[in-house]
Amino acid sequence: MHNTILITGGAGFIGSHVVRLFVNNYPHYQIINLDALTYAGNLENLKDIKDKPNYKFVKGDITDESFIDELFATHQFDGVIHLAAESHVDRSIMDPLAFIRTNVMGTAVLLNAARKYWKDNYEGKLFYHVSTDEVYGSLGAEGFFTEETAYDPRSPYSASKASSDHFVNAYYHTYHLPVVISNCSNNYGSNHFPEKLIPLAIHNIKNNKPVPVYGKGENVRDWLFVEDHARAIDTIFHKGRVGETYNIGGFNEWKNIDLINLLCMIMDKKLQRAPGTSAKLITFVKDRAGHDLRYAIDATKLNKELGWAPSLQFEEGLEKTVDWYLANEEWLEHVTSGAYQDYYSEQYQKR
Ligand code: NAD
Ligand code: TYD
Repeated sequence: MHNTILITGGAGFIGSHVVRLFVNNYPHYQIINLDALTYAGNLENLKDIKDKPNYKFVKGDITDESFIDELFATHQFDGVIHLAAESHVDRSIMDPLAFIRTNVMGTAVLLNAARKYWKDNYEGKLFYHVSTDEVYGSLGAEGFFTEETAYDPRSPYSASKASSDHFVNAYYHTYHLPVVISNCSNNYGSNHFPEKLIPLAIHNIKNNKPVPVYGKGENVRDWLFVEDHARAIDTIFHKGRVGETYNIGGFNEWKNIDLINLLCMIMDKKLQRAPGTSAKLITFVKDRAGHDLRYAIDATKLNKELGWAPSLQFEEGLEKTVDWYLANEEWLEHVTSGAYQDYYSEQYQKR
């Protein structure tokens, strides 16, 4: 039984869904959400649960060792679910060191604090590290990533996540810290920051702006609805075996251009535009450096061992996602004003 749980990165996209699920489903748990509120962190994502008695927000940086030590000393955590990270591949190409700081150093600081504060009694404790399928590198036309696939990260983002996974495993083998890791495919859903493909395309289509598709749009991603990821994290946190890795995926591969065409059709319908209107905005732009061709997860282990399966068909999930963005214009306006404009110009102007 884990009673006081630290969730890092809980103001971000996936983290906010995980925090909400834990706060609502486990009223007897105390959930501490630690987040530095970078450009990607937004407390508006959690306004529906902010006053719940079993929820507390703490602003802070996971790379700040003395702050993290103090937090562990104060709260006596039983479990950690670690999601805080720099998460966008294009930003990692612009500024790799920021990714090493947060994803590698930040994870190591948390592991070390857990080791120090739990060392006398690991009973009932768990350090859950949330990672990505991108650590496995890039697939050709065939095959899937399994838990046995060798790591082969190819972007600064995936290299930093791979490194953090290695540290988690090192703390398990060296100090017997009770850990579990999951590696998930691309998520989509509400509260997704519009630097990533799906929310960026929704935002641009709505505003009649070009929809940038890298290269020829032939890269393939395996998409999972974010609430299904949060449910998988809940399942693994409570039932996963210590020291194990679980792959999480949607069994749902889409070529980028096919996905964008589907999204354009949904947007035409929702915005009552003539069929084909949104697709005219598709603009092929310079490819991402080192662009991984294909990701595809084999989530059989999680399904067979712990009984998890995705709940939504992609078309249904995508429509729900579009509905959310169209109903939450204020959220989009808040996150795309200010610094977002500078990022957007730097990333897309020269393409
Ligand atoms: P996100 O960028 O939306 O959110 C990251 C959160 O971490 C933000 O709230 C940010 O403020 C916080 N944060 C960043 N640096 C911090 C620091 N130094 N200290 C404290 N907080 C900090 O990311 P996301 O898409 O929600 O991803 C969450 C986790 O899931 C990440 O570890 C990511 O690698 C992993 N993941 C993401 C996906 C995906 O499709 N988005 C897929 C698989 C795994
Ligand atoms: P993204 O959402 O950044 O996730 P990841 O790189 O982690 O998979 O990108 C998803 C796919 O969409 C990826 O193949 C890159 C591509 N892409 C575009 O074609 N245009 C864009 O503007 C963005 C942000 C991504």
